[in-house]
Amino acid sequence: MVAKRLDPPLKWAGGKRWLLPRLRAFWESYTEGRLVEPFCGGLAVALGLAPNKALLNDINPHLLNFYHWLQRGLSISLEMTNEKDLYYQYRARFNALIKEEKANSQEAAELFYYLNRTGYNGLCRFNQKGEFNVPFGRYRRINYQRDFRDFRPLLQRWEFQTGDFRRLKLRSEDFVYADPPYDVEFTQYASQGFTWDDQVRLARWLAQHKGPVVASNQATGRIVELYSNLGFKLSVLEAPRRISCTGDRTPAQEILATNF
Ligand SMILES: C[S@@+](CC[C@H](N)C(=O)[O-])C[C@H]1O[C@@H](n2cnc3c(N)ncnc32)[C@H](O)[C@@H]1O
Repeated sequence: MVAKRLDPPLKWAGGKRWLLPRLRAFWESYTEGRLVEPFCGGLAVALGLAPNKALLNDINPHLLNFYHWLQRGLSISLEMTNEKDLYYQYRARFNALIKEEKANSQEAAELFYYLNRTGYNGLCRFNQKGEFNVPFGRYRRINYQRDFRDFRPLLQRWEFQTGDFRRLKLRSEDFVYADPPYDVEFTQYASQGFTWDDQVRLARWLAQHKGPVVASNQATGRIVELYSNLGFKLSVLEAPRRISCTGDRTPAQEILATNF
């Protein structure tokens, strides 16, 4: 175990730092085993629980490239200032690296960090041509971190993977925490491309796992029905207010589904 607490280095939508006390209570009985997060996102949960063994996955390859460089003790040499012109210059450079198939480079990881901290709301969005197209963020002040060597000892013990959750090879005793994009009911819109079929595919995959499973999601009627029909125990929590795309702050109900 490491003594120093490491904060998530990126801004990431749907961060579950607020759920940590609940998750820690579940995790405490399984700390000898491996933590598996099929949707690791901003690493709020993995860094908060600081397991010795972990398998962390996300479908976003740029996020995982950044974590691969963190494992090697990334130290950023790129000039970083909160200026619009610089932001658009770096955004163009990042897109050029993707085109040149250099998205796995250290330079791409440094640019990804800068774009994440400086761009609008920490969004990670791409257009149909595959270009990162998030506008400048207009923050008053940004504290850029350059030295990530403190992450190295912990992250070196963990295994990272990129791709769809279904490609993960689970061991029967793994503790799985699944935090997929939220179900959005009554609309065709699929949050981050994660459709209702994906939600069903995930819940069935989790139901087959023999070890402990905790899944979180938005408490829509159909999510409650899906997980309870598969035999999960459910608890509903009040989630912190999120800013919706229309700008209003909507209270949301979060569901935690467990198989133990
Ligand atoms: C709600 S976020 C996870 C947030 C994370 N728990 C945290 O605390 O920062 C959901 C994540 O699922 C990823 N994702 C979307 N579809 C996926 C898929 N099919 N397989 C794996 N990851 C996926 C997204 O890139 C996103 O990072």
